[in-house]
Amino acid sequence: KVYNDYFFDEPAFNTHDGGYVPLEVADAPVSPLAIPPLLKPDKQTDTDIWYTVTAQAGETQILPGAKTKTWGYNTSLLGQTIVYPVGKHIHVTLQNHLSELTTFHWHGLIVSGPYVDGGCHAPVYPGESKQIDFTLDQPAATTWLHAHPCPSTAEQVWHGLATMVLVTDQHINDLPLPHNYGVDDIPLVLQDRRFHENNQWDYHADYDPDGVQGPTALINGTVNPVFDVTTQKLRLRILDGANRREWRLHFSDDLSFTQIASDSSLLPEPVQLTHLMLTCAERAEIVVDFAGYHDGQTVTLFSDDVPIVTFKIHAFAADNTTIPDHLLDIQRPTVDPSTPVRKITMSGMDESVMMDNKKFSMQRIDATQPVGEAQYWDITNTNDMDSGMVHPFHVHGTAFLVISRNGHDPYPNEHGYKDTIGVNPGETVRLLVRFDLPGVYMYHCHIIEHEDGGMMAQIQTYEKGKPMPKYKLMDMDTL
Ligand code: C2O
Ligand code: CU
Ligand code: CU
Repeated sequence: KVYNDYFFDEPAFNTHDGGYVPLEVADAPVSPLAIPPLLKPDKQTDTDIWYTVTAQAGETQILPGAKTKTWGYNTSLLGQTIVYPVGKHIHVTLQNHLSELTTFHWHGLIVSGPYVDGGCHAPVYPGESKQIDFTLDQPAATTWLHAHPCPSTAEQVWHGLATMVLVTDQHINDLPLPHNYGVDDIPLVLQDRRFHENNQWDYHADYDPDGVQGPTALINGTVNPVFDVTTQKLRLRILDGANRREWRLHFSDDLSFTQIASDSSLLPEPVQLTHLMLTCAERAEIVVDFAGYHDGQTVTLFSDDVPIVTFKIHAFAADNTTIPDHLLDIQRPTVDPSTPVRKITMSGMDESVMMDNKKFSMQRIDATQPVGEAQYWDITNTNDMDSGMVHPFHVHGTAFLVISRNGHDPYPNEHGYKDTIGVNPGETVRLLVRFDLPGVYMYHCHIIEHEDGGMMAQIQTYEKGKPMPKYKLMDMDTL
């Protein structure tokens, strides 16, 4: 079966927003798609691996003429791609070469909060460096690193502090999937910006409390990108790295593709699609088979009706591998029937956004949950269908399963582990959430201006029978 649907509710698409900024094809030359280099470890042994990640400011040649002032990790814009093998002890030095405080948030890594996971309670001050270390025990996935200082997460991500983090394990390495980074396995970080005078970005000029948008698609930091396809199959690791924009993706010729993974793992079974919608911070890995094309042809990736990437087909060797029908075993933890269902609401728009009818407060713990206990979380978006928006709900430090949408099955590509879920207006999405590590974790809307605007809360997880540890939580006023 091939699905031809975006699944989400059309009346809530961002195209209906009063402040919607449509994408436009930039009046700029075609450029080769930037492929971020893999970050080289400082050192590695059989059991341990060391990296240094530096947040820095710089200038990037994005358009002809003046360079654009941008920020990035270990590079001037976005970042180098980081690879974390599951099971190894990982040591990271976090360096801040910016002139303001930042944090290094591992979106999608199952590491302890509130310090190692790099939420707002883990500042690294200008000129400072900090060490963290952790060992990952989670399925292979496409995750990402972004800045998370409250309340300027949105602005720092907008400047460019976002990069992919690939979690790898033996299981995925053994599957017959494209694995050759930069050749047949490539990241696609989808963002949008407005270029002002002298090719500069201006966050404040473009500010919108419902999320900053720009008319120019920026893919891995490239405007009008073209990628040279030299293999029959291409794996795209797609991240909606935009502050606000939803991407509704489809190829020319309505070429179908296979989604193999979502945010936090492979899907249990691959899903065939012609259309794919991503809300902010969601990821999808897809495999595109160019068997029907030959040297010299092109295939275009669109968002709505605007071309965003051109794939130029070159001669390739025939590839007879097939994607297995079964990719990952998912064990659904059982929920004790006496455990109450946690009810969470996302309400409002613009400056009035709230989580559970409250604005975020850094020093308030909004909820608690024992480590290892599976709970149902019912996430309700109280916006009206006619005038509301899809709010992408994200939780730190865990990967959840999507149980239902308004009592119906989740969308066909939502059967793997996820950490971000788009909730339609008027909808309640039931999640199954379990934390493995004690700590404090934030949960919020991932329209980043909504997060900064207070549509965020935090939960403390604890080991049953042990005293609740006290964590030092930042205070907005001490920033
Ligand atoms: Cu991707 Cu709290 O963030
Ligand atoms: Cu996160
Ligand atoms: Cu929101």
